[in-house]
Amino acid sequence: MFAVQPDLADQPDRRKWNARYSAGFAASFAAHPLAVAALAMPLPDGAVLDLASGPSGSVLLAAAAGRRAVAVDASDVALDLLDQEAARRQVAGLVGEVHADLTSWRPEPASYALVLCTGYWDRDLFAAAARAVLPGGLLGWEAFTADALLARPGMPAQWCLRDGEPASLLPAGYLVLREQDLPDARAGTRRRLLARRQAVQPGLAGAGN
Ligand SMILES: C[S@@+](CC[C@H](N)C(=O)[O-])C[C@H]1O[C@@H](n2cnc3c(N)ncnc32)[C@H](O)[C@@H]1O
Repeated sequence: MFAVQPDLADQPDRRKWNARYSAGFAASFAAHPLAVAALAMPLPDGAVLDLASGPSGSVLLAAAAGRRAVAVDASDVALDLLDQEAARRQVAGLVGEVHADLTSWRPEPASYALVLCTGYWDRDLFAAAARAVLPGGLLGWEAFTADALLARPGMPAQWCLRDGEPASLLPAGYLVLREQDLPDARAGTRRRLLARRQAVQPGLAGAGN
């Protein structure tokens, strides 16, 4: 069971997404394709982190594969749905939920074999997520491109990737494995990235014994 944070009581994203995940919402618990791809690749030992997770099927997939997996979201309704499903699938011992506001919450550096974030964009969070990946681990991200503003003019521009992002924002030591634009005339184009943090960091090769 996760702890609902009292200081998030009036957080606008929590209110908005709690409402969406409530009445009439049926969670699919389908793992995101980035999670499916990443978990089929070589990964170091370590946990999976899903940022802005919703009721994450990716976390459940990682746990089913025997990995500890942590979901972070402002919506306690989403985390509760995940918590109940993890218990139903008997993987609750491997699943952690963090009720937090991702405009300020940041993961510990070099702590996760795989960091995922899909359907959410924040440049500062991206930088922290890249730092949170263990050497040899993977970073997966999917967000709307600025092109989506044509399909959805009401969407704030800061929710959208600029040209070349997020690959252009990766720190040294990352290798892009996959980058793909997914056009959608109704919702707008999303860009999907999968990148590996090299096990041997540039400048450190050969250093020490
Ligand atoms: C579009 S949904 C994506 C959910 C999931 N990652 C997926 O791909 O299906 C965006 C998620 O971001 C979460 N979210 C929005 N603003 C947030 C914030 N400030 N802090 C933490 N989570 C937030 C919402 O609760 C929601 O679960």
